[in-house]
Amino acid sequence: MNNSSRRAFISASVASFAWLVTGGRASGAASAITAGAPCKTKGQERTVKGVTYICRSAKGKLVWRKAPATVQEQVVTVRVLESAALAVGETKIVDVPVPSGGTTGVVVTRIQTGITALAVACTHASYPVARVGNELVCDLHGSKFEPATGAVVNGPAVRPLLRYEASESNAGVYVTIRS
Ligand code: FES
Repeated sequence: MNNSSRRAFISASVASFAWLVTGGRASGAASAITAGAPCKTKGQERTVKGVTYICRSAKGKLVWRKAPATVQEQVVTVRVLESAALAVGETKIVDVPVPSGGTTGVVVTRIQTGITALAVACTHASYPVARVGNELVCDLHGSKFEPATGAVVNGPAVRPLLRYEASESNAGVYVTIRS
């Protein structure tokens, strides 16, 4: 191999390596991407002018599709009660603001091992539950739930009450809601 062909070989090798390392971005072809345009590698992603495209299979061909926008999780932690206001075995229903706006009812119960927080909405048809004796009862159709875990005791509901994170610090009870 003479010097000229050695240089050509090295140049081609470097270009191939750059293409592999950058996933093809070094080719300059990225700017030509539009939704529906053909692509070569399934699952490959490219971002052009702030829009991310993913190479997907559609009707037997590989084409660029816009990636779904990622939704940022919103989290709200609220002090809902003073610790002293909730004795062991006691349940209170509080309104907690939700990140998307408005409030939601939360059933807060102190058990031997800490605090539990459950959605007040019955999982059968969303009617609010209330504490009756040692159970959370939905008056609309009679479902009953276990206050410590939200588990179904009696139907027609089949799914447990939604659980929220609950914690206790600085003599207060806190509930965290994510949306
Ligand atoms: S809404 Fe609660 S049992 Fe039907």
